[in-house]
Amino acid sequence: MKKKTTSSSKSGITSVLQEGRVFSPPESFAKEARIKSLSKYRKLYRESINEPERFWDREAREELVWFKEWRKVLQWKAPYAKWFVGGQLNVSYNCLDRHLGTPTANKAAIIWEGEPAEPGKPGEERTLTYHQLHRQVCQFANVLKRNGVSKGDRVIIYLPMVPEAAIAMLACARIGAIHSVVFGGFSAQSVAERIHDCQAKMVITADGGFRRGEVVALKEKVDEALELEDTNGTTLAGSVEKVIVLQRTASDVEMQSGRDVWWHEELRQVDTSCPAEKMDSEAPLYILYTSGSTGKPKGILHTTGGYLLGVKMTTKYVFDIRDDDVYWCTADVGWVTGHSYVVYGPLANGATTLMYEGAPNFPEPDRFWQIVDKYSVTIMYTAPTAIRAFMKWGDQWPKRHDLSSLRLLGTVGEPINPEAWMWYYEVIGGKRCPIVDTWWQTETGAIMISPLPGTTPTKPGSATLPFFGVVPEVVDEDGKPVPKNTGGKLIIKQPWPSMLRGIWGDPERYKQTYWSEVKGCYFTGDGCRQDEDGYFWVVGRIDDVLNVSGHRIGTAEVESALVSHSKVAEAAVVGRPDEVKGQALVAFVTVKGGADPTPKLREELRSHVAKEIGPMAKPDDIRFAEALPKTRSGKIMRRLLKEIASGEEVKGDTTTLEDFTVIAKLQGEED
Ligand code: PRX
Repeated sequence: MKKKTTSSSKSGITSVLQEGRVFSPPESFAKEARIKSLSKYRKLYRESINEPERFWDREAREELVWFKEWRKVLQWKAPYAKWFVGGQLNVSYNCLDRHLGTPTANKAAIIWEGEPAEPGKPGEERTLTYHQLHRQVCQFANVLKRNGVSKGDRVIIYLPMVPEAAIAMLACARIGAIHSVVFGGFSAQSVAERIHDCQAKMVITADGGFRRGEVVALKEKVDEALELEDTNGTTLAGSVEKVIVLQRTASDVEMQSGRDVWWHEELRQVDTSCPAEKMDSEAPLYILYTSGSTGKPKGILHTTGGYLLGVKMTTKYVFDIRDDDVYWCTADVGWVTGHSYVVYGPLANGATTLMYEGAPNFPEPDRFWQIVDKYSVTIMYTAPTAIRAFMKWGDQWPKRHDLSSLRLLGTVGEPINPEAWMWYYEVIGGKRCPIVDTWWQTETGAIMISPLPGTTPTKPGSATLPFFGVVPEVVDEDGKPVPKNTGGKLIIKQPWPSMLRGIWGDPERYKQTYWSEVKGCYFTGDGCRQDEDGYFWVVGRIDDVLNVSGHRIGTAEVESALVSHSKVAEAAVVGRPDEVKGQALVAFVTVKGGADPTPKLREELRSHVAKEIGPMAKPDDIRFAEALPKTRSGKIMRRLLKEIASGEEVKGDTTTLEDFTVIAKLQGEED
């Protein structure tokens, strides 16, 4: 490990490139950690990539409980992988039943903290032991069966951050139904499109959810989703037969007889015994929709054995999880981080996972630190965008609370700028907690590049080195490896157990999106460089996908939402750097003849996008333009728009631009 002189970094994410500080794990941490030395990591890593079948065969035996052994560890016919072929297991069994009859049975599986009603009032709290969680999952699995759900059926889960979200996921897994969790911030339109795409038979929702003191009307949105029609007048969500409604806010909701049933009433009809189905290792576990570079989200498919092994092992080694940890991943279960590191990874390890229902700054900006203090949280895993917001709100908020229980910090979702890393390290971690900056994606299922906290020296802004079995490489346009410290595209060269198995219903798009850049290799869509120590520095997306506050948003999706408005002729959406959100959305819009580009229309368009997709996709800026810069062949020149949106001088190649006056006009458009 070469140690460079410490450079004081400038503000902004680009300062990652100048970062040279190195932090070794504190000795006290390293002494206790599972992997204590880089040489041990390197030995295991080498085995995992040189003899993957041997490595994964051993790990799968050690880590998981199988009902039936596999015939073959890996069957790889690019781009399709099958792991533990012929093996049988159940995810819910591995997360729950296996802990019964052990001391873990009476340990807290989920600690849940609700949103406080008002300042000064404590939030509601609930704790479910493994024993209790098992019982509730079995009961709810029987409710699913009673309502016509069986193996292979798709179930949409559209719930707030309450334990029932985890219960619903585990109950689906128990009976072999495929869940698709939809984040509660998505609109009725987005819910309907997802139902349509996977032909879901059931929706599990709540009368409402609490968010910053307001009620989010989830059931109302489901009702609206179930009524929506496509352009031919066909009901989009016609496949839904039943809606199960959890009572959370006691809001008035309409219950359609024959279709809608109450969660609590259904529970009275069932018993608590429900054996776990023996599932094929390759049986689908869940579909999770994520943005891509077209207008339509992709249904990323994950299966059973490989996925569970991936999340179990990464939770064990990256978070170095121990029996007495109180582990808190702040992600919502609607995102992949919530799937892998709120629910499946921690529970498979018999850990205590904390779930929080509300926002980080409600009722006050110290909400997170109050929770850390209250429950003596030991491991915290959150997003750089949250860290940057905390920095902005000021040190006085964390300083009000005792954070000395923390022993490890993690980040995920976007590149972390060194300033935010240092703040997290010093103010939250008190300089004693290692930071694991974990790079991965919805598609990868589990963490791919990350420090191991007991051994990997960290550099602020780098996700450092690959996890076992992961072979990343940075390549150029032709797919050839680039020299160290040169930017390029990040690819993964070998299959790994928790990899996606496809895009639901769209094998062509799966091949095109991920497997057509470099033959036989997985293309991540991210730009990256590797430094002289072999550390990976992921800089962000290089496709038409933006990362806004750690959420992936496809520019094409926002564009198609904008042009669906009656007054919009054309729209182009690009990102510009934002201090807190990482990237902000800027939309360039031309209006139809007769329409006035007024501030009122701007607000109307923002609300329209919120209605079509969800509030998180609202453009931060909408700039009206007379025309968009296009090449002579009619392609919108996004690169130019990006430069204009970021306030940079337009310096790119404009030789193919059709009308030069367009740029001058766009630059003149300021408000
Ligand atoms: O661009 C990378 C960024 O987030 C993308 C994946 O987004 P999503 O599928 O929504 O999953 C987020 C949670 C796993 C990646 O393509 N990303 C994620 N983690 C990091 C990151 N960029 C830099 N550093 C990270 N640690």
